Amino acid sequence: MSRGGRLIAVGISGLLVGLALNQSFIPGTSSGTLNGFAPPDAFDILPGWLLASVGPYVVHISRSMSTWFLPSFVRLADLSIFNVWTGHVILALNHHGIADLLADGPKSAEELAEATGTDPQNLFRLLRVAVNAGVFSASNDRTAGGRPVFANNALSTLMQVDHPSAMHAALQTTGLDAAGSWVQLSTSLSSGQVPFHAAYGQSLWEHLSAHPDKEKTFTRSMAASEGGGALSVASQLDCSQYGTLVDVGGASGSLLAEVLDRHSNLHGILFDLPQVSMRSRTTWAQEHPHLINRTQIFGGSFLEPDSIPVIEESECPRPAYLLRFILHDWDTPWALKILRNVRQAMQAGPCHSTATLIIIDQVLKDDFQWELPQKLLMDINMWATVGGQERTLSEWQSLLAEAGFGMPHVQSTQGYNSIITTRLQDQLQKR
Ligand SMILES: C[S@@+](CC[C@H](N)C(=O)[O-])C[C@H]1O[C@@H](n2cnc3c(N)ncnc32)[C@H](O)[C@@H]1O
Repeated sequence: MSRGGRLIAVGISGLLVGLALNQSFIPGTSSGTLNGFAPPDAFDILPGWLLASVGPYVVHISRSMSTWFLPSFVRLADLSIFNVWTGHVILALNHHGIADLLADGPKSAEELAEATGTDPQNLFRLLRVAVNAGVFSASNDRTAGGRPVFANNALSTLMQVDHPSAMHAALQTTGLDAAGSWVQLSTSLSSGQVPFHAAYGQSLWEHLSAHPDKEKTFTRSMAASEGGGALSVASQLDCSQYGTLVDVGGASGSLLAEVLDRHSNLHGILFDLPQVSMRSRTTWAQEHPHLINRTQIFGGSFLEPDSIPVIEESECPRPAYLLRFILHDWDTPWALKILRNVRQAMQAGPCHSTATLIIIDQVLKDDFQWELPQKLLMDINMWATVGGQERTLSEWQSLLAEAGFGMPHVQSTQGYNSIITTRLQDQLQKR
């Protein structure tokens, strides 16, 4: 590092130490009060487009800055071991519902252990790691002889079961239930087997259908993908020109409901596997009774021809088919099959000349060095859990062209995902 760089590093360290000594800046701790370090959410103070464009660079610069303060071997151990362990500590606390138990006020490890039937000393050890990492806060309860008590902070609150971010479900399903997939990465790299299959002996979809509780959690976790509204894709999806929106593989319809709420003239069709649709009929009636007369729910498989609903004449004009987080679940041959089945449903309808395909998924940068690490990791997660992949723009263009769709229009959203729209190639050629 240059002399100037070192001076800046020393200056920043001094500032951090000063703030820490002031006891107001150490993540997860506080002096006397129970309000742990709760940074404002970046999305509350900066516009989404700025975060989306500048975010990756800030993340990379701050990561490389950490090598100024840590020896290289610690940095490598952080990346490969300590961060994984920290993740497991948070997943264990999430699994035992600690954030919910703290909803009505601070508690000691002993009280939490009693409520969860866990070991108080080990629970205390997990909590101190989590607090140190900035999840939950702690303070000494002076009325109880200096015993530490724990409380929620901005991050741990997200782990409450009913929090709209659905992070409790996401940590449980993507984090804990699928953790075995990641352990299999090294062997699957040689064997070619999908890591989830190697770990659990069946595909994720087979596993979920054999475990209805896990399927329910997985379906709920889908709502987490947009940060519980902060990054809501529904607010960025303009459906004012469509008459009917078919949500293909729409799970419980959390996105469809939000879109229908925003567009009072739009009709919705929710389509997913039969067992998912059966459950959605019940939950939809309970959660969105005001939308019942504008929605139909069908079960089937998008892998089968003639299964995806065809929009009838009465539902014209301008039908749209939505695939959110579907195509990244599948490798290219399967993604092509799904797209061709969607194309067949679009062509079978009387309004095919105006039918639009909307895909919501990630579009990776070709220059991966400046891509957000979360997006590249999600690409690995897709392979690890379902044998799928995220795609670059050129990969999207060739996939869509091969399936009979025209050149896509790509709109970035405030989150990690993009809205990709296109029409049937033969209809575009007629214009
Ligand atoms: C990653 S989730 C995305 C859910 C939803 N589109 C969303 O964005 O919240 C994939 C969905 O595809 C559904 N799915 C998987 N295989 C399917 C198939 N063969 N036919 C229809 N849906 C399927 C799953 O049940 C699940 O709801």
